[in-house]
Amino acid sequence: MSSIAVYPGSFDPVTLGHLDIAARAAKLFAELHIVVVHNPAKTASLPSAVRIELIREGLQEAGVRANNIKIDTLDGGLLVDYCTMVGARALIKGFRSNADLDYELPMAQVNRDLADVESIFLPANPQYGYVSSSLVKQVFSLGGDVSGYVTKSVERALASSSANRK
Ligand code: PNS
Repeated sequence: MSSIAVYPGSFDPVTLGHLDIAARAAKLFAELHIVVVHNPAKTASLPSAVRIELIREGLQEAGVRANNIKIDTLDGGLLVDYCTMVGARALIKGFRSNADLDYELPMAQVNRDLADVESIFLPANPQYGYVSSSLVKQVFSLGGDVSGYVTKSVERALASSSANRK
């Protein structure tokens, strides 16, 4: 039996929905590793070191006072190998809709085939049920207000990343 779980994702950038899932998962497990994973199917907007820092600051800004959360990065290789390395038998995934389940189910099945790592799906808080990193980036890049979806530090990081691109 393992009481360690891994919450993986691109977190590009972390949203209030992600932070909500992390806070809830941290209440279910003795140890939670939030892992910023390089997803080859996506082009990252923010470097992984920045994404890690935004998660760290975001947990503080959101008032999540869990001392059992570790934040890490996985720049290559299988997620299940990371799970084995840290002794985790469970992956945490948030889901907002059937589309998320369609996307997540094959990954959950493969991860179980590969290393008997189970996926646990936590339903999104309805308040964040439509919030995604890609929508946040799009709205922000078009001048929209994203303050209801991300922390202040993420807003600052998006502003500085868009200023650097100009
Ligand atoms: O936030 P995302 O981009 O939807 O997260 C997807 C992620 C990073 C969790 C997924 O792409 C992943 O698990 N990548 C690690 C590589 C891996 O283990 N692939 C094989 C099993 S899916």
